Amino acid sequence: MKKNMIKKFTLGIASVCALGLILCGCGKKSSDNSVQEVKDNKTLTIGTSADFAPFEFPIVKNGKKEITGYDIMIAQKVADKLGVKLKIVNTEFPSLISELKNDKVDLVLSGMTKTAKREKVVDFSKPYYTVENVMLVQKKDADKYNKISDTKGKQIGAQQSTTQEDIIKKQMKGANLVTESVTTSLATELKNGKIDGLVLENAIANNYVKQNPGKYAIAKVKLTTGKDIESYSVAAKKGDKKLIKVVNKVIDKIQKDGTKCFKMLRTCKPSTASNEEDLRCLTF
Ligand code: ARG
Repeated sequence: MKKNMIKKFTLGIASVCALGLILCGCGKKSSDNSVQEVKDNKTLTIGTSADFAPFEFPIVKNGKKEITGYDIMIAQKVADKLGVKLKIVNTEFPSLISELKNDKVDLVLSGMTKTAKREKVVDFSKPYYTVENVMLVQKKDADKYNKISDTKGKQIGAQQSTTQEDIIKKQMKGANLVTESVTTSLATELKNGKIDGLVLENAIANNYVKQNPGKYAIAKVKLTTGKDIESYSVAAKKGDKKLIKVVNKVIDKIQKDGTKCFKMLRTCKPSTASNEEDLRCLTF
């Protein structure tokens, strides 16, 4: 009799727990308030690592430092669509996903590649830009690196926690990987001869060459950029589907209206752009 009661009691508790789990969607967010929250705050807060021209970089405008670039323009369009202000949190790339998970930012726009590993912890928008990986070298070494084996024993840099870091680990087995949390530091190290090469995506590497044609060049060595790491997407917290839907609409519109300028990626002058003229290249 007593045993039976205990059994019933345990069963009862088990079903209450099961019901609770079902109601709460197994610990996942049950309702998506992502858009409403942004509207209530009257602010869209985005995280970015502003070391990545032409996607995000600092400029001085009317004597004041501000962050601009393609990603910022997309973010501004999302904020406009929601009728809120845009706030930019500038953080080193390796901490951007935790910023998102810890609710410090609503979205991450940072030339972030949509990868399967990241997709486990964040939700991504549709892709908005396609890239290839290349190696930036000093101009004097332009003809020195023609095949992977030429990087053997060399110091090759990549920003920490990026797809470029993985590329060096997987494709340049004989090279010594050098990582920094900020891309611009690596570019300076390359310029000063502290590292021999810097793996970057083509839009970023080309921008360095255009800014400093006497200093940098793209090496001939061919790197493989698999389909799984070839496109940039906007990241949101897991479950924030409504916010992603708004971002996707903005991306659709940009790709329809402004494909030409967006594709051209004309040179922008990081740090030195000081007037509207310099910024015109960013208008799509
Ligand atoms: N696309 C690469 C990745 O997602 C590098 C992105 C670096 N972005 C930046 N703003 N520094 O891993």
